[in-house]
Amino acid sequence: MSKEKFTKKILCIGAGYVGGPTMAMIAARCPQYKVTVVDINEEKIKAWESDELPIFEPGLLEVVKEARGRNLFFSTELENNIKESEIIFVSVNTPTKTFGEGAGKSADLQYWEKCARDIRSAAESDKIIVEKSTLPVKTAIAMERILNENEKGLKFEVVSNPEFLAEGTAVKDLENPDRVLIGSKETESGLNARNEIVEIFANWIPHDRLITSNLMSAELSKLVANSFLAQRISSINSISALCEKVDANVSEVSRAIGKDSRIGNKFLHASVGFGGSCFKKDILNLVYLCETFGLYEVAAYWESIVKMNEYQETRFVQTINKALFNTVTNKRIALFGFAFKANTSDTRESPAFYITKKLMEEKAHVVISDPKAIKNAKVDLKDFNNKIEYEIDPYKAAHHAHAIAIITEWELYKELDYEKIYSNMERPAFIFDGRNILDHQKLFEIGFNVYPIGKPHLIHFNES
Ligand code: UDX
Ligand code: UDX
Repeated sequence: MSKEKFTKKILCIGAGYVGGPTMAMIAARCPQYKVTVVDINEEKIKAWESDELPIFEPGLLEVVKEARGRNLFFSTELENNIKESEIIFVSVNTPTKTFGEGAGKSADLQYWEKCARDIRSAAESDKIIVEKSTLPVKTAIAMERILNENEKGLKFEVVSNPEFLAEGTAVKDLENPDRVLIGSKETESGLNARNEIVEIFANWIPHDRLITSNLMSAELSKLVANSFLAQRISSINSISALCEKVDANVSEVSRAIGKDSRIGNKFLHASVGFGGSCFKKDILNLVYLCETFGLYEVAAYWESIVKMNEYQETRFVQTINKALFNTVTNKRIALFGFAFKANTSDTRESPAFYITKKLMEEKAHVVISDPKAIKNAKVDLKDFNNKIEYEIDPYKAAHHAHAIAIITEWELYKELDYEKIYSNMERPAFIFDGRNILDHQKLFEIGFNVYPIGKPHLIHFNES
């Protein structure tokens, strides 16, 4: 009988960048559990059932294939799946609110709350609800109240298990995480629920990396981890602006400070700016939380990280404009990369969007190239679609271009034949390396005018 076949029945609501890969890994590592992932988006569920997964993530298809049909299932059916499961992960999106109180900063919890109500109405037995989505501190308590207001005498325990995976390395991060954090109430039933979740991850993760805490600490830790990571990028990006003024080299500064074991060398790579669905959203969430408690100085401190990121994006476009003799109108500018980082098709909050928008306002002829993100770029830029050119082949994108701007650090851009590219570009030819991934001296010798981030510009004429 299938009922006895599995020792735990786990459901996840939300088959996105977080829910899909996380559940695939749990199913692959724990064949004794039945893992079902549901989503309201039928197309997405069909894609999870095929070999064309809805997200690009290195190594993910292999993990999905290991478990799919054995103990990993995808579905759009919510009610029966809720009834059947003992543990429900909720991984629906929690975007920044665009309306009303907290607009522009606080998280929009409508999907989360709707899930809680759906669970309450369908459930016929007690369940553990796991917060996977990043949520404001104290959401778990509020959700537990909603869930436990039921007339069926059912008991729900809400546990927080924030996800720290990064896109592009999701499989590696899930397989071998630095830590897994599980927060719960410190009551007897809270601790029992916590242990149930610990037990899942203990199937493949060493015990010393399974960290437990109270509910609020777990919720807050997720916001703080992302804010600290983003803070490092904004800090080094702020220094990149200064480096350009004093002929210092930001990579040399990063290396020098990163050798200090107290500072460490990660997340010190100056760039065109950070993107992704989490950093900005989570910092603004933290800012809102601080403001709610009247901690205005603390809020302003964290908000400055977002402002510095916006400044870095603006500075990049200004550099392009200034270098191209203060006009980009009708000039062909090839953007190499649209994804917010390499190895993902995700374009959420990508600096590429802001840069494209600004260049379009200046009436430039923008050509977007990216090995994986063109489909998403077209959706993001639908308002400009008939004016923007999309070209997957970087050589063709750069043909007759006045300038190339590297936006995403895809490996393939390091390996292109830049002599060939140069020979087909307009003169003078410019390259703006928003990721500092190219050999700038070599490009200069080919004939390019080269503008890295936080390093001296290499130009063939006097800059006014
Ligand atoms: C989401 C949250 O945005 C983030 O805050 C959290 O840290 C993890 O979960 P992500 O997986 O990247 O991140 O979001 P997304 O790819 O948009 O996936 C959410 C999925 O939930 C979508 O596929 C959406 O269709 C689905 N969904 C949303 C539901 O199934 N039901 C709903 O009511 C709302
Ligand atoms: C981040 C966190 O790393 C992860 O733990 C959390 O679960 C979700 O948010 P993600 O947004 O997928 O993950 O990517 P991440 O690798 O953190 O990069 C975020 C942005 O910062 C990217 O645009 C990236 O290009 C940029 N970045 C990163 C830099 O500009 N410089 C760096 O040194 C590192």
